[in-house]
Amino acid sequence: MENIEVLLKIKEKYYPSEDIIKKAWIKDYENLYKESLQDREGFWAKVAEELHWFKKWDKVLEWNFPYARWFVGGKTNITYNCLDRHVQNGKRNKLAYIYLDEEGREVKVTYGELLELVCRIANGMKSLGLKKGDRVSIYMPNSVEAIAVMLACARIGVIHSVVFAGFSEGALRTRVKDARAKAVFTASYTQRRGKKIDLISVLEKAIENLDFVEKVILWDRDKEGISSSKGFVDFEELVKEADSFCKAEEVNSEDPLFILYTSGTTGKPKGVLHTTGGYMVQTYYTSKVIFDLHEDDVFWCSADIGWITGHSYIVYGILANGVTSLVVEGAPDYPDPGRWWSYIEKFRVNVFYTAPTAIRMFMKYGEKWPSKYDLSSLRILGSVGEPINPEAWHWYHKNIGRGRCVIVDTWWQTETGAHMVTTIPSYPAKPGKAGKPFFTVEVDIVDKEGKSLPPNTVGLLVIKSPWPSMLRTCWGEPERYEKYWNSIPGKVYNTDDLASYDEEGYIMILGRADDVINVAGHRIGTMEVESALVDHPAVAEAAVIGKPHELKGEIIKAFVILKEGYQPSEDLIRQLKDHVRKELGPIAVPEEIVFVEKLPKTRSGKIMRRILKAKELGLSIGDISTLED
Ligand code: WTA
Repeated sequence: MENIEVLLKIKEKYYPSEDIIKKAWIKDYENLYKESLQDREGFWAKVAEELHWFKKWDKVLEWNFPYARWFVGGKTNITYNCLDRHVQNGKRNKLAYIYLDEEGREVKVTYGELLELVCRIANGMKSLGLKKGDRVSIYMPNSVEAIAVMLACARIGVIHSVVFAGFSEGALRTRVKDARAKAVFTASYTQRRGKKIDLISVLEKAIENLDFVEKVILWDRDKEGISSSKGFVDFEELVKEADSFCKAEEVNSEDPLFILYTSGTTGKPKGVLHTTGGYMVQTYYTSKVIFDLHEDDVFWCSADIGWITGHSYIVYGILANGVTSLVVEGAPDYPDPGRWWSYIEKFRVNVFYTAPTAIRMFMKYGEKWPSKYDLSSLRILGSVGEPINPEAWHWYHKNIGRGRCVIVDTWWQTETGAHMVTTIPSYPAKPGKAGKPFFTVEVDIVDKEGKSLPPNTVGLLVIKSPWPSMLRTCWGEPERYEKYWNSIPGKVYNTDDLASYDEEGYIMILGRADDVINVAGHRIGTMEVESALVDHPAVAEAAVIGKPHELKGEIIKAFVILKEGYQPSEDLIRQLKDHVRKELGPIAVPEEIVFVEKLPKTRSGKIMRRILKAKELGLSIGDISTLED
């Protein structure tokens, strides 16, 4: 990857074509942004009016630092806006989703059918005794069924907590336990490279002795009769027996919608809590004007519903716009590296949203794969999850966008709920720079004392005022929530991302400032991997760092001190990797493990990962005065 000096000098700008500008919802970013800052609440109220409310809000924002409430007093239901509203407006037979699996299966679901499925699941959930405020974990593959379960929860005010189906038993257990889920929805397997990855045995181990989990609902994909033999509720039976309509619960704007766990620097993952009204409004509007969605557009976000990108831009924001989108299960390059491009050709996808790590993988396969397909339907390309290096940006622009498309590089986080920094399609983009703050969003780049930094210097990206889709708290841990707002003086939200802006105000994100590792666009906490390693009988201590990697952005490197009586060996490395895979899942497995005698520590005994990292990268170690050894 290019070094910082080179990146800071990027001046190159790409202007959208006349066609893109003509079609765009918003043509004048500069003025609208200025206006939006003058009246934040008015801006969002106007957007909220495009949606349906059972009762209109009394107050747009109540800001009681650091706690925000948006559309206070309003009553709505996000599924009413995502489903009923469209069905009532003549879109009953319009496709909501086209689901595609690795074996070439294609399932098309209309808005009318999706509404019915959601209602049936919601009624089924009620019959199982689930009610408003209960938590339900969803451990299912990227599928219409899983999306319908999320929506069914939202329909009746149950709080969902989706756990990525690539996570293993330890990671799943932590999340189910923290949320005290009353029920878990799962599936018999998820597909990956032609294999069926069993989810049931992982789930069974994960919920062992968790007595508060009253029900497991199983989607038995191959109808093998597993549910009855395991004592699970059968998903299809539940759906079949339930009533086909369930009225959307009129929830308060600030009623919780979901918890989604994400890695932090310390301790167990944080349960980021999002509520209904503000999240709905901002995901709806960012989908609309950043992806510039219009009635006939076909949209595709290649993420998984297990991550925030899937929540906001496969499910809620996209359905709220009433467009057709793709849901794809399995690996991008299986059965061959043409898989994705063949879908764009076949379904005439207009807006495509993916991660730099995927783009870099396709770069490696070569231009010959996308060049076999007609990608002329594409208009807008999106990027998310990690900084997109200029080389990948150019490849994406040339080989997928064929030089015609605009690229929106969207910066945001699980915590922000929706896009916060990007260039909208009608505004010129700079390769490698996410760009400009979205409407009403006021950002700054500061040092640790909260002092604003001049252009072209690197500091922490902060957000200076509340926004509708911001997290409301960390589940059961308000102090962790408050830390976002009080770690830097000046009452600002600390994103913990390093960033810099240029003379024209384009923001470039450089990566995490904390001990979170971004592996192929996925946030992995160093602590989680270290705990998993230490959990192995051979390991006395472990430290984990992120190491730059050409394809994945970062990989995990672990430094391990063995207990007495254990010898370093290739076999032990394999064992440790297997152990982490079993505990956390394949994405958290350290690519490199080295055995060491000692780890650098502070006087108080905290491992100084910074030093390990500096050494690894051949940089100067900086201030090591607190280092004991
Ligand atoms: C990183 C994913 C650069 C960043 C939506 C952030 C990005 C973390 C970008 C959040 C981008 C996300 N450019 N970096 N366009 N988008 N990031 O919570 O470090 O999984 O803090 O949310 O990903 O990851 P999360």
